[in-house]
Amino acid sequence: MAQRETTAAAVDWTALRRAADDVAARAHAPYSGLHVGAAGLAADGAVVAACNVENASYGLTLCAECGLVSTLVAGGHGPLVAVSVTAGDGRPLAPCGRCRQVLLEHGGDALLIDAGEGREPVTLGAMLPGAFDAGELAARRPR
Ligand code: THU
Repeated sequence: MAQRETTAAAVDWTALRRAADDVAARAHAPYSGLHVGAAGLAADGAVVAACNVENASYGLTLCAECGLVSTLVAGGHGPLVAVSVTAGDGRPLAPCGRCRQVLLEHGGDALLIDAGEGREPVTLGAMLPGAFDAGELAARRPR
């Protein structure tokens, strides 16, 4: 617990939020008009960011968090420590259910999610309780 608090205090949330806002400006969102940016602090100190990319088929839309995870893994930055998702207005946007699951794989329960200026970040574990994860898969894999 103390470890988690130390980590939260060490994160430059203002910078992370600004990175999310900046990349949101590059979103390809002609259908919803919602320009989303996601920025994450990785274990190696890198800040990675991505925006949503919509598609005329709607269902093939890529959420900002998916792009973020793709960039994180391709860059070999290690797991995520903190994430901010905004719609370009500096205010946190709730990650959708699918993205919570995608983030869980690369940040775990302790991943800190921005709750906005002046508010304590929340853990991904609190946003996705009882999640299916690699441990559950291993435990249930047929022998
Ligand atoms: N969107 C994201 O990029 N991340 C989320 O967590 C929520 C939704 C995008 C997908 C779509 O382009 C637009 O927001 C409206 O749903």
